[in-house]
Amino acid sequence: MNAHDSEKVIGTLEQQGYARVEDEAEAGLILYNTCSIRDKAEQKVFHRLNEYKRLQGEGKKFAVLGCVAQQEGERIFEKAPYVSMVAGSASYRNLPEMLRRLEAGEQRITGLDDRQTDLTFETEFTARSNPHRGYITIIEGCDKFCAYCVVPYTRGKERSRTSASVLVEARKMVDVGFTEIQFLGQNVNSWRDPSGRMSFAELLVAVGELSGIRRVRFTTSHPRDFTRDIVEAIDATPTLCDHVHLPVQSGSSAVLKAMAREYTREWYLERMSWIKAATRDISITSDMIVGFPGETDADFEQTITLVGEVKYDAVFAFKFSPRPNTPAVTMADSIPDSVKSERLRILMDRQREIQREHYGRHLGQVQECMVESYNRSRGQVVGRSSQNKTVNFTTARIAQTPPPVGSYVPVRITQTLPNCLVGEAIADSAEGAAFVPVARVPQFVVLN
Ligand code: 5AD
Ligand code: SF4
Repeated sequence: MNAHDSEKVIGTLEQQGYARVEDEAEAGLILYNTCSIRDKAEQKVFHRLNEYKRLQGEGKKFAVLGCVAQQEGERIFEKAPYVSMVAGSASYRNLPEMLRRLEAGEQRITGLDDRQTDLTFETEFTARSNPHRGYITIIEGCDKFCAYCVVPYTRGKERSRTSASVLVEARKMVDVGFTEIQFLGQNVNSWRDPSGRMSFAELLVAVGELSGIRRVRFTTSHPRDFTRDIVEAIDATPTLCDHVHLPVQSGSSAVLKAMAREYTREWYLERMSWIKAATRDISITSDMIVGFPGETDADFEQTITLVGEVKYDAVFAFKFSPRPNTPAVTMADSIPDSVKSERLRILMDRQREIQREHYGRHLGQVQECMVESYNRSRGQVVGRSSQNKTVNFTTARIAQTPPPVGSYVPVRITQTLPNCLVGEAIADSAEGAAFVPVARVPQFVVLN
């Protein structure tokens, strides 16, 4: 999400006549986009800003963007007086105006809209860094206020774009050659069409049916708003990828209550049963937090039994990290770091065991992979399956004409490892057709 914010900011600057350079030594303006979801983000930011201090004598200007900017606000000017602009993501639509003030020499420019705005940041000038896979933010902000989470304070109110505006952007992207679109939102499935035309599942299907589209993904979903029609849409629409990322955070209903997640273990498991009842093999992944204040050994054990029950294809697990302004900061029964670390280790070990076994189901299958890169030393192409798994595969053609990045290749899976699949392109054999051709984004150069 943060990386895509940067793509939009870069596009906005370019549209305002700025040129992007690779090295900060060449830049007149340095923008630092920050994230504060976990760890001591603000300390890291001030540490890094301190390194930039040496550049201030050269007349460079500095701006701090993103969640740490929103969270720390004008304190940034006090601690780092060479910073001229501080803006959170809910203010990016005002960037052109803020840039004009910066150019005019104004010193302390703030864009700290916090939870005041109902507007989304829509720009057709996004500087997309990947010409095949494109992101579209369909909903910004969050109104859920989970007890541990800083996002509602840093990204502002929940606000959705209209289905018409999302579909126009998607159509334009497909027209210039993008074959994969990923919808983004803190709670992507909480999206509600302000024009009242479509449900989230209908929007997925509408994009999945655009001629030329091959893959549609969406992240991150919230269990509270996860409805059965999303599973039905995936089941019925081959272009919708067979993967759902549905963070559970904990397997204990008591901890979920303390986290203000507004669902129980049973509620979550019911949604899992919908996904598992689908005709397609829909991959399920999750985020989890260990060591939330008050989490007992028995609570943690519930998380361990949940991962065994669901059999996730991937789990992103984090030690609870107290974030400023959130209710969890003041909660009693904080868990010592050594216990958090031990629980994290146990959870990751258990999950690795599950993946080692569960990935075995893919052995012998043929999966379509989008080529992402090449591992030339191992003679392998690195691709991604619809389920979002990494597939390292060999092809007789790699030495002469390797399949281009962004193309789709049918691959037979010959080996499964805990974190990836290994296979052979079947396009090389009598069984397979040629590589699936893709529309390429037109590339140009201007010579003088
Ligand atoms: N501490 C630890 N993990 C957190 N996450 C969000 N806030 C915190 C926090 N304070 C995790 C959640 C979320 C993921 C993006 O980051 O698991 O789903
Ligand atoms: Fe944070 Fe909860 Fe909102 Fe997700 S739903 S962004 S965890 S407050």
